[in-house]
Amino acid sequence: MRLSVIGCGYLGAVHAAAMASIGHEVVGIDVDPHKIDALAHGRAPFFEPGLPEILAEGVASGRLTFTTDMAAAEGAKVHFVAVGTPQQERSHAADLTYVNAAIDALLPHLSPGDIVAGKSTVPVGTAASLTPRIESAGATLVWNPEFLREGWAVQDTIDPDRLVVGIPAGSDAADTLREVYHPAIAKSTPFIVTDLATAELVKVAANAFLATKISFINAMAEIAEVTGADVTQLAEAIGHDDRIGRKFLGAGIGFGGGCLPKDIRAFSARAEELGRGESVAFLREVDEINLRRRERAVQLVISGLGGSVYGKKVTVLGAAFKPHSDDIRDSPALDTAVRLHGLGAEVVVTDPEAIENARRIHPQLTYVDDRDTALAGAEAVLLVTEWDEYRRRMPASHVSTLTAGRVIVDGRNALDPAEWRGAGWAYFGMGRP
Ligand code: UDX
Repeated sequence: MRLSVIGCGYLGAVHAAAMASIGHEVVGIDVDPHKIDALAHGRAPFFEPGLPEILAEGVASGRLTFTTDMAAAEGAKVHFVAVGTPQQERSHAADLTYVNAAIDALLPHLSPGDIVAGKSTVPVGTAASLTPRIESAGATLVWNPEFLREGWAVQDTIDPDRLVVGIPAGSDAADTLREVYHPAIAKSTPFIVTDLATAELVKVAANAFLATKISFINAMAEIAEVTGADVTQLAEAIGHDDRIGRKFLGAGIGFGGGCLPKDIRAFSARAEELGRGESVAFLREVDEINLRRRERAVQLVISGLGGSVYGKKVTVLGAAFKPHSDDIRDSPALDTAVRLHGLGAEVVVTDPEAIENARRIHPQLTYVDDRDTALAGAEAVLLVTEWDEYRRRMPASHVSTLTAGRVIVDGRNALDPAEWRGAGWAYFGMGRP
């Protein structure tokens, strides 16, 4: 099937390449010529495992093309809208500028019978308000939210755990979407057909739930900290209950990234507009608990260093908001580094993938590519992104040969306290004794 994908960021670039990899003829369209140039040459403009391979393969096969020219969308049966919906600068609400611009630019190129499939995360009600414009071109608007996780985006797109499509009453657009996702459909992946509002809500509800789960365990970490309990054992113990589940109970410096933080804020803002602010008032607490954990990690470094970080060399392991990503949007890891720098510490940041992005936004910090060089002479070490090269391939005995001090703050509860204490370190975890 011929498809267009409008917006080639983390979501759209992966979607375009994944759709080509399952046999479709896909054009990816974006207003950023640099991004398009890289993609058109089969190069991923960001780090995402598996993407370079399917991108290169798609471009070489001729089934996958990229352009800045919206006219290239003509002739596609389904047009996926995958542009960003960031947080507005002066409020918590979602900024729909890019969605509106994409729809306006696409309209003159639509043909009767086309399907426009929204993938961007939008406030509930957005699809209904966009529908008259799409229908004026004889096309149908559906909402097909995306649940991919960065780091697993290719796998999540080709083989998702469920597919959700919101369609207008009386439309048969769901059949076309079944054809688009034929390999997943053939594997009996749950395919949920619903109305537009439900499809929009499914996405924000899922992210609100995940954020709440993380803040729940981080709230337990706060209680553990004043009682001497161990939140990692608590998570394991409650996680054995199927109804609770062990996933997303990792206590630490909390969630960040391009989705969870802005999505829960936009959800609260939308609920307020709908007169139902109280229904999701707890999301404000979820946000606050989350932000408190970053400060907690900073406080642990301060107390580990005897009350002040001023003039002390602190090595921060990680800048990306999570491992397997170079994304630093709302990264709790980078935020802790910035806070320590603000307190006068000599901060050295290292990360396997995210340094370039971090340097662009926070040029005031010192960045070092090589982990061991970054650790040299450190008086304290703060682990904030649990890359394998910090959690698995960084023996305490080895780090002891590099650093000046023996203070480690484990912002992701990724290390074995016994190993570090055994090597003579003062180990501080999050919600662990
Ligand atoms: C999330 C959703 O998982 C995905 O379904 C949606 O489509 C987009 O938003 P992503 O932003 O890629 O995906 O990251 P995710 O894996 O959900 O992690 C989000 C943040 O939570 C990270 O900063 C991570 O470090 C943190 N996290 C995750 C925890 O602090 N504890 C956990 O137990 C799990």
